[in-house]
Amino acid sequence: MSTRTPAEILGQPLTINKLTLKNRVILGPMAVLQPTEDGRPSDQSIAFLARRAKGGAGAVFVGGSVATARAFRESPFSPNIRYDDDAFIPDLTQLVDEVHATGTGVAVFAQLFPAFGRMGVPRDGHGISSASPKSVDMGGFGLPDNVYIPGGRITPLPNEATVEEIKELEQAVVDAARRAKAAGFDGIEIAAHMCYFYSSFLSPLANFRTDEYGGSVENRARALKDAVAAVRLEIGPDVALGLRLSANDHVPGGQGPDGFAAVTAEIAKAGLDFVALTDGNYESMKDNVTSESGKMLREGEPQAFRAALGPQVALFVSSTPDPAQAAAAIEDGTIDATMLARQLLADPDYPNKVIEGRQAEIVWCDHANSCMRRLILQVPVQCHLNPEMGRESPSSKRSNAGQNLFIWAAGNPLLMAIADKAARAAQKRKAR
Ligand SMILES: Cc1cc2nc3c(=O)[nH]c(=O)nc-3n(C[C@H](O)[C@H](O)[C@H](O)COP(=O)(O)O)c2cc1C
Ligand code: SF4
Repeated sequence: MSTRTPAEILGQPLTINKLTLKNRVILGPMAVLQPTEDGRPSDQSIAFLARRAKGGAGAVFVGGSVATARAFRESPFSPNIRYDDDAFIPDLTQLVDEVHATGTGVAVFAQLFPAFGRMGVPRDGHGISSASPKSVDMGGFGLPDNVYIPGGRITPLPNEATVEEIKELEQAVVDAARRAKAAGFDGIEIAAHMCYFYSSFLSPLANFRTDEYGGSVENRARALKDAVAAVRLEIGPDVALGLRLSANDHVPGGQGPDGFAAVTAEIAKAGLDFVALTDGNYESMKDNVTSESGKMLREGEPQAFRAALGPQVALFVSSTPDPAQAAAAIEDGTIDATMLARQLLADPDYPNKVIEGRQAEIVWCDHANSCMRRLILQVPVQCHLNPEMGRESPSSKRSNAGQNLFIWAAGNPLLMAIADKAARAAQKRKAR
């Protein structure tokens, strides 16, 4: 058994390719950055990230972003930070420079969202596409605590992506990666999790193609493996490149961690430095935005990836705010770093507090998920435990009293039970 403390373990550096992170606590990507309507980082985007850098995060991932014009159009959480045109490079450069200018030694990672796949919103006469035509039954197998979707929601049926579309998207991701590199990002993550475009290829749950992109592990890995190889060719061997992946569908007929790990091992042959693991998808949102620290470790998910990928690919695990759990998993080699989202909304100083042995001072996220409700209902994201969150810049957008009441009502079980009944009755009437 290790004699080192969680502070010592989480405070040690981590080298990923040529990049050294100063510690093992990473801010996960979150669409809370309030970019401008035309897709550029705002003062608030930069202030939010700079605050997390000052709180001691070893790396920050820039969430709520899109790699392609298609993703910008079909995004369910708009507006987004864009990487789909060279015109965005100066603003992206400013974001990276200003976060670096905190002097904290933080690394800044771009999250490239190629397309939203099964979660895309058809707009402007354009359809959406995915590996195979399969809708998402939102939260079909459970919603996070205090999140409700009255009447349920089934997303529009996507088209089966053509080979031409797959190749076009690959080139668009390569171009976005070139822009991220030009803007000075320290690392790049391709988003291939939840029910988004690339994710839909990985599991038989959403991929029932009969061509070279469906069926065997090699075939299901192909679209993403080709994209990783093409991005690697563009950015060179030395830039930290990774994927964000779901480790488990948590849906009957879906794929578990061993299956996802096997597909990932095939993709990793194209040159991956890290994998950021999340759990579940939109059908099993309660697993994705869990209230239980260390659930992924308890269910053996990172363990399956470590066994399949070996020690060369760094593994980040989500939703493990308990420092002792994260440290134990780093110490025994299961993971390399902890990646936190909500905990760093509630307390941006969590990394410094953990690493300086000031755990008693941590403000613990309560997992009551008003931040999630705000995201889903497109109200500026704030955290009720941290009045500074979402207001790091004086120019930030704030929610008004009406919106605050709406968010409260949307988390109230009694009101939501009534809303659910009413929505289902209306659906029945419509179906008659
Ligand atoms: C408000 C909010 C916004 C999010 N936006 C993104 C996003 O843009 N990209 C992404 O990959 N995940 C996003 N997520 C998911 C988180 O990165 C993370 O996977 C999830 O919250 C579970 O981690 P946690 O338990 O540490 O919060 C978001 C989560 C929240 C709460
Ligand atoms: S609103 Fe704050 S405390 Fe509540 S779940 Fe979100 S981050 Fe945690």
